[in-house]
Amino acid sequence: MNRKYGVAGCCSAILLAGLFAFKPVAAPSQEKVSGQAVFAANCSACHGSDGRGGERAPSIATRREVVSRADADLIRAVQNGVPGTAMPGFAYMGAEKINAVVHYLRELQGIGANVKVPGDPRLGEQLFYGKAECARCHMINGRGGFLNSDLSGYGFGRSVESIRAAITDPDRSLDRKSESVTVVMADQHTLTGLIRNEDNFSLILQTEDGSFHSISKAAMTRVEYSGHSFMPGDYGSKLSDNEISDLVSYLIKSGVPEHASNQKQDSDDE
Ligand code: HEC
Ligand code: HEC
Repeated sequence: MNRKYGVAGCCSAILLAGLFAFKPVAAPSQEKVSGQAVFAANCSACHGSDGRGGERAPSIATRREVVSRADADLIRAVQNGVPGTAMPGFAYMGAEKINAVVHYLRELQGIGANVKVPGDPRLGEQLFYGKAECARCHMINGRGGFLNSDLSGYGFGRSVESIRAAITDPDRSLDRKSESVTVVMADQHTLTGLIRNEDNFSLILQTEDGSFHSISKAAMTRVEYSGHSFMPGDYGSKLSDNEISDLVSYLIKSGVPEHASNQKQDSDDE
């Protein structure tokens, strides 16, 4: 069966037997069904070619309530559709195609058995809490600092490249909330951190040690916007390529909801 164009006589005989027996579902498939092809033909028009949603249907690649569902539930949803919504049932496709498309959906979600992470997540974890000092600012699953975003679940459904870019190029989507600023006080001393709140009379600055400073505008000379994220911009040179891959792997693996990571087991858990 692996050899597509095996012994011609043999395969056409099977094909004919299948036709005569008239059991298209049970007939042995000539080729492995491609979940990707099934998705492109039947799902992408509504869910988008990457499953992240389109005009007619929501994302099924990134929304937690879909991703955290067991395989068996997804299979059922694809089989039967979602009554009362535009999601049609695909039972007519047969089990093989439905399994294949759900399998592919897992890949789009970044959690399929086939999704390869580029490095070693355990080494990434050590880096995160150790040498790379990510945990000075970020928390994952309750461990680490809370100065900046909690990265639990962050890696989930995101591509390796986009996570890598978030680590090596923090300025790529700089906004005021993450920009490092320095406040110069009337007496010339300075404070550097993140502006957490601001009104006409005062601002609240959080410095790297985590503490909040409420500063009256009357008491300061100026605010210098650095044009850079508060996140260090030099990880691309301070860490090796492999180390960044390990960190990316850790973010991906730690982002997988528990339920979905058990997908190999069959499914009357719940
Ligand atoms: C005609 C548009 C359309 C097509 C085609 C379509 N879907 Fe959907 N799908 C939807 C909509 C709309 C929803 C959201 C339903 C809701 O509101 O819960 C949805 C929801 C889902 C869900 C989440 C189900 C749940 O229980 O929440 C899955 C999984 C899904 N679709 C998979 C697929 C797959 C796989 C295909 C292709 C085989 C597909 N869909 C084709 C419109 C579509
Ligand atoms: C000095 C604090 C600091 C350190 C250290 C730091 N980051 Fe960040 N990080 C930030 C800030 C600020 C942002 C911008 C978004 C925000 O405010 O959380 C950010 C954003 C991110 C994002 C994107 C988050 C999002 O929601 O878009 C990722 C991923 C990330 N950091 C990973 C890391 C990793 C991995 C390390 C260690 C190699 C690290 N960071 C070290 C401060 C830091």
